[in-house]
Order: sequence, then structure tokens, then C-alpha cells
Amino acid sequence: MVLLAALALLAASTTVLGDATARGSEAACKQFSPSNIQDVALTAATYFPANARVDITNVFSSINTTDLPAFCRVELKITTNATAGSYAITEVWLPDAWNGRTLTVGNGGLGGGVTVSDLGGVAVPQGFAGISTNTGHNSTSGDGSWGGPHNDNAIVDWGWRAVHLSVVAGKEIAKQYYRQAPKRSYYAGCSTGGRQGLKEIQIFPDSFDGIVVGSPANWMSHLQPWSVHMSLNVLPANSLCFIPQSTWDNVIGPEVMRQCDALDGLLDGIINDPRACSFRPEALTCTPGQNMSTCLTEDQIGALHRIFADYYEADQTYIFGGYQPGGEKAYATGLVGNPPFPLPQDWFRFFVLNDTQWTQDEYNASIITLGEQLNPGQSDAITPNLTAFADAPHNGKVLHYVGWADQLISPGNSVHYYETVHAFARANTSLAVDDFYRLFPVPGMNHCGVRRMLRSNADVGGQAANAFGAVMQPQPLSHDAEHNILAALLRWVEDGVAPSAIVGVKYKNDVPSDGVAFTRPICKYPSTVRFRGGDPSSAKSFFCA
Ligand SMILES: *[C@@H]1O[C@H](CO)[C@@H](O)[C@H](O)[C@H]1NC(C)=O
Ligand SMILES: *[C@@H]1O[C@H](CO)[C@@H](O)[C@H](O)[C@H]1NC(C)=O
Ligand SMILES: *[C@@H]1O[C@H](CO)[C@@H](O)[C@H](O)[C@H]1NC(C)=O
Ligand SMILES: *[C@@H]1O[C@H](CO)[C@@H](O)[C@H](O)[C@H]1NC(C)=O
Ligand SMILES: *[C@@H]1O[C@H](CO)[C@@H](O)[C@H](O)[C@H]1NC(C)=O
Ligand SMILES: *[C@@H]1O[C@H](CO)[C@@H](O)[C@H](O)[C@H]1NC(C)=O
Ligand SMILES: *[C@@H]1O[C@H](CO)[C@@H](O)[C@H](O)[C@H]1NC(C)=O
Ligand SMILES: *[C@@H]1O[C@H](CO)[C@@H](O)[C@H](O)[C@H]1NC(C)=O
Repeated sequence: MVLLAALALLAASTTVLGDATARGSEAACKQFSPSNIQDVALTAATYFPANARVDITNVFSSINTTDLPAFCRVELKITTNATAGSYAITEVWLPDAWNGRTLTVGNGGLGGGVTVSDLGGVAVPQGFAGISTNTGHNSTSGDGSWGGPHNDNAIVDWGWRAVHLSVVAGKEIAKQYYRQAPKRSYYAGCSTGGRQGLKEIQIFPDSFDGIVVGSPANWMSHLQPWSVHMSLNVLPANSLCFIPQSTWDNVIGPEVMRQCDALDGLLDGIINDPRACSFRPEALTCTPGQNMSTCLTEDQIGALHRIFADYYEADQTYIFGGYQPGGEKAYATGLVGNPPFPLPQDWFRFFVLNDTQWTQDEYNASIITLGEQLNPGQSDAITPNLTAFADAPHNGKVLHYVGWADQLISPGNSVHYYETVHAFARANTSLAVDDFYRLFPVPGMNHCGVRRMLRSNADVGGQAANAFGAVMQPQPLSHDAEHNILAALLRWVEDGVAPSAIVGVKYKNDVPSDGVAFTRPICKYPSTVRFRGGDPSSAKSFFCA
């Protein structure tokens, strides 16, 4: 009886009151049984009342909180290739108080696991029906051993297929659960998550109305050799080029600030426009008798020039951007650390060369072309032609951000993709890119703005306004469109108001309950943030120009 009453209520709210009031409920969750979704099987539907403990962990992501509104956690098994028996694990989190939209969230690195942290951290609190997949396998973000050799279906699932099938299934699940089709569909992801969002709009332009993508790993076939190249600039650790963490922290970092920080008019440890500064490590050259841990050798200076330069092959083919000055603490623990980030070696071992013993010491530039031609799982997402997504009648929107101090994927990659979209549109279309795609570089921010990233205990969120409503970040100062990039995207798609700046916040210790350290505008590329005067901890003291 209770069930029937709840169903009647659901039906009534849908038909009588319209889309603002399509709701979920405990009864709807407990009896939820989706029908006729090909290749999709429900494995569980679990109701979490408001403020219940949500304590979920998988090998890639975890959440443990009691501050979520009521929602229904639907777990699915999606067959991705029936012949091979391959499948993805996907979850759809359906809040009782639905905002009528879906939000798909992405993954990271080569990781496999539903991103429960962003389903609970971003989607459900804002009323979205959240969708996330394990991408077809289970692993941590730096581990590529699941790829093979020759686990081709798993690689394709990770490359694009699991996300696509999950978006299609997730929208249908939301429609059946709320008895009303979602009115809009959005996406948010960073790193591999950025790549996944770009890939989906490039090959399935109708999937999303708008996407927020951060520091996309969208050129895997160039990113991985660049990563190896960056490590080899300083490794092995007993070589003369090696630069220890203490030298990055105490010698290089302070000198970068001495040379570059004041150029934007404010000495605050944040370089607003790192490309305006050409850092000269020679200023740190050791003089005879000088304590070697306070200066640099010729070999270390040579390494720094390569680290801060764009990477070209011998024939001048552009491979990837370099590091930008301003993130030195993280650079020691990023790609150039000891040991280096394991992902690039796994990429070549299990995805490209099929040689489980290969080490990055064997690297040579001929394998760049090999990886590019193979393009494992069709994971490169570099087409500059976004016409089908961006043009009428679809009118899709892209908001793209990247930290100028990204230590895992050069911010130059984001600028490069953005420029190729512009060049393509100029040459081949009458579209104005600014009408559908805007880039927001974040001064001083490391990879995705995440506080604790990958393998280091160091604070690598960066000395930056690194919280503005994107995935993996501390919560934004407010959920309005001024402070929350996701709300800015909704306003652009639904109300036609495009953002030209987002106000980010830096929390003390990157912990919101510790209080606000400062707020700062993040400006639309190619404009940069300028100091107007006044209190440097207030965004109001800055403008974009
Ligand atoms: C989640 O937090 C609760 C309360 O602090 C704790 O009892 C529980 O062990 C935590 N779960 C995990 C997996 O750490
Ligand atoms: C499905 O897997 C089989 C067996 O590995 C393979 O031959 C086939 O090409 C795959 N199909 C698709 C569409 O990926
Ligand atoms: C991944 O983990 C899930 C949940 O534990 C499990 O059901 C699934 O079989 C695993 N997938 C693979 C490919 O091993
Ligand atoms: C590695 O295996 C894949 C198929 O799994 C194949 O396409 C590729 O050519 C192989 N790589 C090399 C270097 O042979
Ligand atoms: C060299 O400098 C380092 C770092 O400042 C310091 O710890 C060390 O004691 C110095 N060594 C000598 C011989 O002065
Ligand atoms: C480059 O590396 C590949 C893979 O390890 C190897 O097969 C090839 O012989 C190398 N080429 C040169 C010129 O060293
Ligand atoms: C760009 O993509 C659109 C839509 O897929 C296609 O119609 C068009 O031919 C492409 N433009 C060029 C120049 O390749
Ligand atoms: C214009 O489109 C053609 C055909 O797709 C492509 O080859 C060319 O690179 C595009 N131009 C630019 C500048 O991207």
C-alpha cells in the first residue's frame, strides 16, 4: 500500500506539477526496476536518507560523509562487448530533490573505479542525477597493468566506450526513475576526466549540452612520451642533472619568484601570466667554493632549460608543452621526481609495445609515432572540429580550465588544443569559438587543483585560488554562477549568459572549515588577472585585461 501510494504521488507530481517537482523517494528507490535497457543490468538500488553516513570505497575513489541530501544509489553492470564478455560497472546517484538534469563525472589517469567522491561531492548536493563508470576495469590511477598486453576491449572501454554507454544508460535510468526525461545533460571531469569529456563531444555530439573540462589528458599519444622525456631530463637520481626536492623548494622556487612574481604588479607568490617571464636559471650558477645545495650546476641548469621548454622531436615536430614557472614545489614530485610517476612506463608497456619488461630508460623518439598510429583505445581526443557539438541546433558549450602550474600535464597542452580549435574554425567554419568554448587558466594552480594528489604528501593544490566548483576540489565559496564553474556553465547553456571570469577561493590549508585565505578572479584566456589596488586577499581588488 505504501509503495502504491508513493508511486501514485510520483506520477501525480510528474504530470500535474511539471519538471521542477519530479522527485525520488525511498519507496521509488527500493522498488526501482528499470525495464528494457539493452545490455544494462541493475545490480543494486540503495536508499540513503538525508545525512545518512555514505561510506563507499573502491580502488580508485572513496567518500565518507554524512552531509548529503537523500538519494538513491543505483548500481549497474553494462555489457560493453557481448562477444568478449567485457563490461563496465556504472553508478547513477539519484537525489530525491532532483534538479531535472544529469551530470556525468569523469575519472583520472588509467584508473578504474566509479568516482564516488565526485558523485557525492559535486553531483548530488546540487541536485543532479550523477553518472559515473569504472571505465571497464578496476585499478588505481597510475596502474596500467590491466591493459594487457592485448586486453583490447578493456582499453577501448577505458578510451571512450564505457563512458558513452554509461551516459546513454544513465539518462535512461534517470528518465525511468523520475518518470520524466532529463531536460539537460552535463559533464565535469579533470585530467583523464577532461579527456573523457572532450572525447564524448567529439564522437557523440548529442550526449551533452555542456561540459566542464580541466587539464585534459586528451593527447595521450604525445602526453606519455613527454612524461618520459620530462623524467629523463633529471634521472637517474645519481646523475649530475638530478634536482632534489630541497633544491626545487629552497633554491629554484624562490629564484623563480624573484624573477617573475613582480611582473604582474603584486608580490604574492602567484605568477599571473607565466609566459610573460622567461626564467633564467643561470642566475643560480654555483661559484667556486659555494655550498652546492644552495646553487645549480651546469647540468642542472641544462635540465631546467629542457623542463621549462616545449618538447620538439629532432625533426622539429611539436610533441608537447613544457612546465611554466610558478609551481616548483610540485614539479619536484610531479613527473620529474624520483621515482617518476609510473603511468607513462605502464602506457608503453601494456598499451603500445606489449612488452611488460620495458623500462623508460629504453625510451627513444621512434615510439612516439608508434603510439600515435596505434592510438590505443582511440583515446586521443584532439579533433579541432567541434562543429557538430557547437553549431545550431545543438549549441553545446565547453568551459575548460587548467592550472598554469600543472605538474602532470603541461598547461601548454590546454592552450595548444584551444588554439587548434580556433585555427580550424577560422579556416573552415563561420563559427565564433568564443560563443561555445572558453578557456580559463588558473594562476599558480597545480594539476586539477587537488590538494593531495597521487603519491605525495606535499600540498600540491598550489598557492592558488584552487576551488571554483570543479571536480576533485574543495567546495566553491558559493554555488552561484560567479563562484561555481558548473553553475556558470548552466547559465551559459540555459540562459545564454557566458562567463568571462570565475571567482576562485583559496582556503587556509585547503580546508573550507579553516576559513578563507583569499579570493581571486580567474580570467578568460587570453586575458590575465591584474591588480587594481586595495586588499590583495579580495577578488574585488583585481580585474581581467
Ligand atoms: C568513515 O568515518 C566513520 C566516522 O568517522 C568511521 O567510523 C569509519 O571507519 C570511516 N570509514 C572508513 C572506511 O574509513
Ligand atoms: C568484441 O570483442 C571481440 C573479441 O575480443 C572482438 O573480436 C571484436 O572486435 C570486439 N567488437 C568490438 C565492437 O569491439
Ligand atoms: C570491478 O569491481 C567490481 C566491484 O567490486 C566487480 O563487480 C567487477 O567484477 C570488477 N570488474 C572487473 C573487470 O574485474
Ligand atoms: C600491441 O598489441 C596491440 C593489440 O593488442 C597491437 O595493435 C599493437 O600493434 C601491438 N604493438 C606492437 C608494437 O606490436
Ligand atoms: C649547505 O647548505 C645546506 C642547506 O642550506 C645546509 O643544510 C648544509 O649544512 C650546508 N653545508 C655546509 C657544509 O655548509
Ligand atoms: C626504440 O625503442 C624501441 C622500443 O623499445 C626499439 O624496438 C627500437 O629498436 C628502438 N630504436 C632505436 C633506434 O634505438
Ligand atoms: C566538421 O564536422 C562536421 C560535423 O561532423 C562535418 O560536417 C564537417 O564536414 C567537418 N568539417 C571539416 C572541414 O572537416
Ligand atoms: C580545415 O579542414 C580541413 C579538412 O578537414 C583540415 O585538413 C584542415 O587542417 C583544417 N584547417 C585547420 C587550420 O585546422
